[in-house]
Amino acid sequence: MSHETADTGTTQTPETPETPHLDFAGTTPYEDYVQADVLTHLQKTLSDDPGEMVFLVTTQVMELWFTVIVHEWETAARALREDDLTVAKDALKRSVRELEALNASWTPLAGLTPAQFNSYRAALGEGSGFQSAMFRRMEFLLGDKSASMLVPHRGAPRVHRELEKALHEPSLYDEVLRLLSRRGYAIPQSVLDRDLSQRYEPSAEIEQVWTEVYQGDQDGELVRLGEALTDVGELVWRWRNDHLVATRRAMGSKTGTGGSAGVAWLEKRARKNVFPELWTARSYV
Ligand code: HEM
Repeated sequence: MSHETADTGTTQTPETPETPHLDFAGTTPYEDYVQADVLTHLQKTLSDDPGEMVFLVTTQVMELWFTVIVHEWETAARALREDDLTVAKDALKRSVRELEALNASWTPLAGLTPAQFNSYRAALGEGSGFQSAMFRRMEFLLGDKSASMLVPHRGAPRVHRELEKALHEPSLYDEVLRLLSRRGYAIPQSVLDRDLSQRYEPSAEIEQVWTEVYQGDQDGELVRLGEALTDVGELVWRWRNDHLVATRRAMGSKTGTGGSAGVAWLEKRARKNVFPELWTARSYV
């Protein structure tokens, strides 16, 4: 690019733009912040197959997205407790974009053939995504609590401690129902006082509450909250289904490395509805 000087009107070549700094006393500020050196040396593949790298990295990338999404949902749950719907909805909306990015990261694994997967499958031993603690944190926040999901993590104190805390805390959905109760909706006392470490069970009363919410002001903050939660529910369901299809392509009906029936077990999991009454209430609006 060139520019004209004000006085003569002649064209001059501008000075070369400043180049980035190269000299740092220690590690770069980028490294100090991102820890890229740590992150890019965590890829310890278990076989000689060149295709294993993308399987491992995709799994690690998904673990990072799980971590971000847990952070957003914990932020949203805390904000709901404090009646701060603006902060809660911002966090939920961010999580919707993040879930879209999470789901897009299936692409490199979506077309694995059985022969390709077999090239490193045996090296995985009994390792399975079923043992992902961060995925369980996501499920717990959605209300899908299960004490037995802590059992695999007894050997990892920090992970176990975090999961146990999450098991006993109100889920995101519990906080939503408490907020609806404070706003005058008829949430049964048994739901407000429920044992938080148990899986949330859908009920006709909560379905009725969502029906009333959705019959109300369509631009109101509660319908918008309901829609943000529905987006979350839909995208979690999509993750489960993308996982199911990738698994069906890669291994047919073989048993899983984690010891389950494989696809048949995943099909059952994929049938679950996240925030069930938000879906069933639609029939009555
Ligand atoms: C195409 C490659 C993949 C195949 C064939 C596959 C297969 C399976 C199977 C068969 C199960 C059932 C449990 C078992 O017996 O192992 C399972 C569970 C699971 N996998 Fe994968 N998986 C793949 C990729 C991934 C990736 C990249 C992730 C990311 C973290 C992941 C996360 C999970 C999770 C969280 C579960 C537990 C699901 C639940 O509890 O509902 N999987 N996988």
